[in-house]
Amino acid sequence: MPTKAVVFDAYGTLFDVYSIQVLAEALYPGHGANIAVKWRDKQIEYTRLITQSDPHNAAGSQYFRPFWELTRLSLEYTLDRLHLARTSGQVEQLMQQYAHLKPFAENLEVLQKIKSMGLTTAILSNGSVDMLTSAVHSAGMGDLLDHLISVDAIRLFKTSPESYGLVQQTIAVNKAEVLFVSSNAWDALGATWFGFTTHWVNRQGLPFEALSPKPTFSGPDLHSVLASLA
Ligand code: LAC
Repeated sequence: MPTKAVVFDAYGTLFDVYSIQVLAEALYPGHGANIAVKWRDKQIEYTRLITQSDPHNAAGSQYFRPFWELTRLSLEYTLDRLHLARTSGQVEQLMQQYAHLKPFAENLEVLQKIKSMGLTTAILSNGSVDMLTSAVHSAGMGDLLDHLISVDAIRLFKTSPESYGLVQQTIAVNKAEVLFVSSNAWDALGATWFGFTTHWVNRQGLPFEALSPKPTFSGPDLHSVLASLA
């Protein structure tokens, strides 16, 4: 089935979450890389904890907190965990950098090519609408993405099936007509289980998760997505 829409994960896929380590290193010499990794891991752990524990009924979602808030809480936890003193000024500086994360170098060229093929483009992210909007616009990608889809709308994080289901609530497509692109192996797997055609951007040369099936496609950076559309 030909692809009609290319839907990207945001953090790690279009925006370099580890670019934060330069500022973290400047604020906490010797700890930048460790802060970046632990911060990201804790942030994702909180999304899973919340969605897994939520009752998922009409009155549910009582544990949901927007991703922006979880990002701040996981940063505070990480600094405490590493016994690093934190002022609200240091936390604010790191959060502001998170709102304007460095995009990957190939993003614009690849998105332009996908748009020129007449395909619909979107982001599906755990990110809150505001943080996605500021990251997309500061990266100059505003005109190249047709939809910014946030799980905020349903208060359930990835990898819940409901989160991937948001794509079809926004774009009229069958699951297999969606090429879902993520650099997070767990996200590529969740989307594959959901039924999307998937492309794992393996930026760090990692083995894929030990769980099957593998994503439909994979490659080292966003350029490889174009080969999956050929
Ligand atoms: C996203 C994070 C989880 O959904 O990468 O954008």
